[in-house]
Amino acid sequence: MIAKLPLAKPYFDLEELEEIKKVLDSCWVTQGPEVKELEDKTANHLGVKYAIAVTNCTAALHLALLSIGIKKGDEVLVADFTFPATGHSVLYCGAIPVFADVNLRTYNIDPGPIEEKITDKTKAIIPVHTFGHPAEMDKIMKIAEYYDLKVIEDAACALGAKYKDKYAGTIGDIGCFSFHARKGITTGEGGMVATNNENLAKKIKHLSVFGMTSAWDREKNDRFVVPEFNEVGYNYKMSDITAAVGVAQLRKLDKIIEKKRELAKYWDEKLQEIEFIEPPYVSEHTEHIYQSYVALVNKRINRDKMIDRLMKNGIQTQIGAYASHIQPVYNSKDKCPNSLEIFSRSLALPIYYMLREEDIDMAGTSLKRVVKELK
Ligand SMILES: Cc1ncc(COP(=O)(O)O)c(C=O)c1O
Repeated sequence: MIAKLPLAKPYFDLEELEEIKKVLDSCWVTQGPEVKELEDKTANHLGVKYAIAVTNCTAALHLALLSIGIKKGDEVLVADFTFPATGHSVLYCGAIPVFADVNLRTYNIDPGPIEEKITDKTKAIIPVHTFGHPAEMDKIMKIAEYYDLKVIEDAACALGAKYKDKYAGTIGDIGCFSFHARKGITTGEGGMVATNNENLAKKIKHLSVFGMTSAWDREKNDRFVVPEFNEVGYNYKMSDITAAVGVAQLRKLDKIIEKKRELAKYWDEKLQEIEFIEPPYVSEHTEHIYQSYVALVNKRINRDKMIDRLMKNGIQTQIGAYASHIQPVYNSKDKCPNSLEIFSRSLALPIYYMLREEDIDMAGTSLKRVVKELK
């Protein structure tokens, strides 16, 4: 069914076409100067030394873990409530994701009980900045420092979000971002790694290009050198066509965030008039970018029926994210009751740059009606 009001919609204009045309005209369409431009501009925006563009955020997480030496048998603490790409990236390394429960209000990893899960095998923590709402990084960094663990931030949804005065994804050892279609800015599929550590940056770049020197770097050599493959790398390269969209999108990032914050405020006010739906919480010292606007449905109401009925009213909504520990692929014995609860009660409501307040009024009217039918 095609909704009258979709959940999300990317925002493009002529700038993306102009950037793509430049790349097509140049005839260099694989990884090259446009990727370099996107990497430099992203690094500059975030205030980090290095940014490495890759095919998606799952690849970014995989390479981030490999670069810090995660291997078979290691344990990595993972925020349970997330898209399972987070846990999958740990499995790709042959390591074990140990799922840590999240806070019911913030949806983010709860730093309190993390320590109970740390063992001799624990090597890293992956906090997720859920839906663009930064995790409690001060506490996480303190724990990581004490136990000598690396921190990989899953900032897939959080490009532009801030924790205190720092951008999400720039506080731990490495930050991983997504340019998937439902993210703040998009290249269709795409990802970026951010770090201030030169060795990690070099390792990640190398692993993203089969474990060899990239074609563009070789192109700039003034003498011919036969490339060498000295480790198993991957083909996680972003193409210059994709990067062209990213360069144009990055220019729009701040205005998209500003608009989505205004719309989130409007949704907050609208939900005051609707019983049994709790608006998302925003922690002190954070700037939420609302990649998704995710409310909590009261336990009395069947959330899945609600999504179905809203769709019949032309309003597309969705679950928030997943409780990882119950996904059969992980065969996990971890217990994460808060995550499980949010998994069954969260409701993502439409939010995107082109959404109008009238659209939220219309969705709110449907929501009110559906709550009445289901309560
Ligand atoms: C928290 C989180 N991590 C990782 C990913 C994976 O991102 P990508 O689709 O770019 O691989 C997503 C995508 O939805 C996500 O939400």
